[in-house]
Amino acid sequence: METQPNHDRVIIFDTTLRDGEQAPGAALNIDEKLTIARQLARLGVDVIEAGFPYSSPGDFEAVQKIAEVVGAEGGPIICGLARTTHNDIKAAADALKPAARSRIHTFIATSDIHLQYKLKKSRAEVLSIAGEMVAYAKSFVNDVEFSPEDAGRSDPEFLYQVLERAIAAGATTVNIPDTVGYTTPAEFGALTRGIKENVPNIDRAVISVHGHNDLGLAVANFLEAVKNGARQLECTINGIGERAGNAALEELVMGLHVRRQYFNPFLGRPVDSEAPLTNIDTRQIYKTSRLVSNLTGMLVQPNKAIVGANAFAHESGIHQDGVLKNRLTYEIMDAQSIGLTDNQIVLGKLSGRNAFRSRLKELGFDLADQELNKAFVRFKELADKKKDVTDWDLEAIVNDEIQQAPELFRLELVQVSCGDRAHPTATIAIRTPDGQELTDAATGTGPVDAVYKAINRVVNVPNELIEFSVQSVTAGIDAIGEVTIRLRQGDRIFAGHSANTDIIVASAQAYVNALNRLYASLQRSEESAEKVALELKPREAAIALES
Ligand code: KIV
Ligand code: ZN
Repeated sequence: METQPNHDRVIIFDTTLRDGEQAPGAALNIDEKLTIARQLARLGVDVIEAGFPYSSPGDFEAVQKIAEVVGAEGGPIICGLARTTHNDIKAAADALKPAARSRIHTFIATSDIHLQYKLKKSRAEVLSIAGEMVAYAKSFVNDVEFSPEDAGRSDPEFLYQVLERAIAAGATTVNIPDTVGYTTPAEFGALTRGIKENVPNIDRAVISVHGHNDLGLAVANFLEAVKNGARQLECTINGIGERAGNAALEELVMGLHVRRQYFNPFLGRPVDSEAPLTNIDTRQIYKTSRLVSNLTGMLVQPNKAIVGANAFAHESGIHQDGVLKNRLTYEIMDAQSIGLTDNQIVLGKLSGRNAFRSRLKELGFDLADQELNKAFVRFKELADKKKDVTDWDLEAIVNDEIQQAPELFRLELVQVSCGDRAHPTATIAIRTPDGQELTDAATGTGPVDAVYKAINRVVNVPNELIEFSVQSVTAGIDAIGEVTIRLRQGDRIFAGHSANTDIIVASAQAYVNALNRLYASLQRSEESAEKVALELKPREAAIALES
């Protein structure tokens, strides 16, 4: 899995756990990050940007853990982000130590607008910091990536100078970020070509691209960049990230896969070469998308390319008729190629623990005994209600168990009565963090509203419910329902997710999960104002404290 210049394939650099996690409300705990990192490795990404180690103790620990567990021999390169400062770079180097192959990604802005208002530095100063700090990063690791932040709005002549300096100091990848999602495909392609033609030592580095989706152009920009010499794409699962998000991994990979005959010549291959353009196992795409959506609470819109619920659905009669006659009439890719139809009925009521464990292993879940026991109990409950338990049901159960919102409040009971002649009424029992079991009841406009009001009476933490969604995992009346919710308190968002054949129970549990995250953050804020600044808004706070 080389990342040397002049290769004829595209390196996939996944930044779901760093830039993706900067999306509002997408915060993940260490176990959740580790679960995603493991799945990214199964997906076949070349590089995992696991976090920004200096930004908070939690980020440091997550990068270290991922480096140790996922970055072992044979795994992907594990990368840590660092500003061009000694402290940042040293923290990244320390966190990455356990990885067999590690990369430090260091960045400084190069656009005049950032220099004048944010950095308050001259071009000459930025040029020399870039060289000095790349050399410092190089004193720890061989693999150093340098990014001129806001490259999309930087003066290309200055950009060429900075990149030349960074490469001379040892950068092996130079990344071109369209930080504010401002450029158009033709411009981004030309910028990439300009770098390839005007940076004298560019043949010693891989050209990478990074971009945000403010104008919905990130994927189109990247594909144009590939045609013009970019060989690394920085992207996130489901396109999550700051503001409108980052370029979506699944769209880039499937774009290159489905249209490889178009892209082959740009990579110096014969037009009809069938060799994949990336290392990605496309059959893992759907599963990865669902995992990231479940754990971050960031739903995938139904019409989202590749992984949206409607991406392979044909509604109109004309389309259905055409597809039945020949799929190629209206389908440019097979649902199987992203793992969408790998939905075998595998287990039932009589299946034992060993069958359960080994099927989970085949699905890529290697659970510790305690987690396995909990998941097995859930499986048995489900098998009692549902004749055939599919792989997707198993994934829903396990994802639910893995999602580890701190268990401060525990839902002990939920009961509702509702109907067209009744006032929806809910009774709930909750165990509080100090061990008491409290029961309360409320009425509401519907059963979920009644449950949430009853829970609020016990938990008593002000919040605003801003998103509530139920999706079924498989077809059929006995399907598992997955509930995802997002709450807001002040300017912070907290997500909760749960799966159950009873959607009222799933709704209650998802709400308690989100409230636990909110409550945990309030507890932390009581501990110490400075610690809060670092834990609640890790990146912004760390940066604010320093500047
Ligand atoms: O968007 C951006 O510029 C970034 C850099 C840190 C690469 O995320
Ligand atoms: Zn970014």
